[in-house]
Amino acid sequence: MIKINNYSSSLEAAYGLTKVLLEQINQSAEKNFHLALSGGKTPNVLFRLWADEYKEIIPWKRLQLYWVDERCVPPEHPESNYGMIKRIFLDKVHLSDLQVHRIHGEDFPELEAKRYTALIDNLLIKQGTYPMFDCVLLGIGIDGHTSSLFSGQDSLLTAPDTYAVSVNPQTGQKRITLTGLPILHAKNVIFFVTDKDKADILKEVIKGEDKYPAGYIVSRLEKAELFTDSL
Ligand code: 6PG
Repeated sequence: MIKINNYSSSLEAAYGLTKVLLEQINQSAEKNFHLALSGGKTPNVLFRLWADEYKEIIPWKRLQLYWVDERCVPPEHPESNYGMIKRIFLDKVHLSDLQVHRIHGEDFPELEAKRYTALIDNLLIKQGTYPMFDCVLLGIGIDGHTSSLFSGQDSLLTAPDTYAVSVNPQTGQKRITLTGLPILHAKNVIFFVTDKDKADILKEVIKGEDKYPAGYIVSRLEKAELFTDSL
């Protein structure tokens, strides 16, 4: 089940998402709120909003930040998801190093996927064998991928490890990705999609069209929310 929140602009959608995220943080009885962030271009508006207007409002001290996925490049590379968030947001909202858990895109991918899996499994409460993020923030690619779970790499949807290596089929670039089952076990899952060109794929995903990784995930989530201006 996905609740759809459609807005007239990406900024409005970012405000709506932030309001719901704040409610989740405020309702959580635990001291720490474990939030996994996606990269790509879409969330820039969101991270800019947090840096500009929510610096004093979001209880940053309670947040533990993780990455949903990372491109296998060093942090200073323009395609680094960590680098992007650092430039837009972390350089302005100062969090302690103990709160920011980046994926080392510069390291050997298979070893880094193992290291990050161990780190997450160690820091998060588990439901059965799955670590439970308080919130996973996801984007959707125009090809229907989410996290870095691409069509044709379906074993990652049910992989036993929390993080694994995937390959962007367009570019051949390796990525480290949160796999399907920990997404399905997260306490909250929020999708943020703000590209008008993604309207068609978004409709397929909302229908739960299994052939797209994002549709596979959406059709199996007990509850999720979508914030968009694309519909
Ligand atoms: C990434 C992501 C990815 C993203 C979608 C959408 O590293 O690219 O985390 O899953 O959410 O690809 O990307 P855009 O926002 O750039 O369209």
